[in-house]
Amino acid sequence: MIQKTYVMLKPDAVGRRLMGKVLTRFEEKGLKIVAMKLRMIPEELAKEHYGEHKDKPFFNGLIEYITSGPVLTMVVEGDEAISIIRKLVGATNPQEADVGTIRGDFGMDTGRNIIHASDAPVSAEREINLFFNEDEIIDYSMSDNSWIYE
Ligand code: RTP
Ligand code: MG
Repeated sequence: MIQKTYVMLKPDAVGRRLMGKVLTRFEEKGLKIVAMKLRMIPEELAKEHYGEHKDKPFFNGLIEYITSGPVLTMVVEGDEAISIIRKLVGATNPQEADVGTIRGDFGMDTGRNIIHASDAPVSAEREINLFFNEDEIIDYSMSDNSWIYE
């Protein structure tokens, strides 16, 4: 099933000039970027986005990290995109993430783990709506589609 999911390159990815390398992985996989914005996240929005973690000991540090510099927010589309992208991203702790995943290849610490991706259809819908208006999500087709999908 074609799905849309919310992906965000965190401030360390932007600050370490890794945006291009990470985006290349999405493009080479055959995923389609349908919305994208470089922005600062206001504290309130960060707290809402990560609301499920509000009682965790790492919450304040997480909000500080995610609001510390610009993030690259995007909506990415593809067949089974939510689970495929979670696999590309790798485990939360980059020290446990498999080599070949984004966190496994680029990160060293859970508190600086490069990238966020929605973990389920319900969270994807919630997060897309938090960060994008409907008219910012572009419906377009790509000429290589028949080489990506049978
Ligand atoms: P994300 O939501 O950012 O895609 O990451 P995730 O699903 O792999 O992990 P999650 O459990 O949702 O945690 C959200 C983010 O909080 C930070 N974290 N720090 N110090 C810690 O123990 C700890 N645990 C989580 C990470 O930045 C993690 O990505
Ligand atoms: Mg999460």
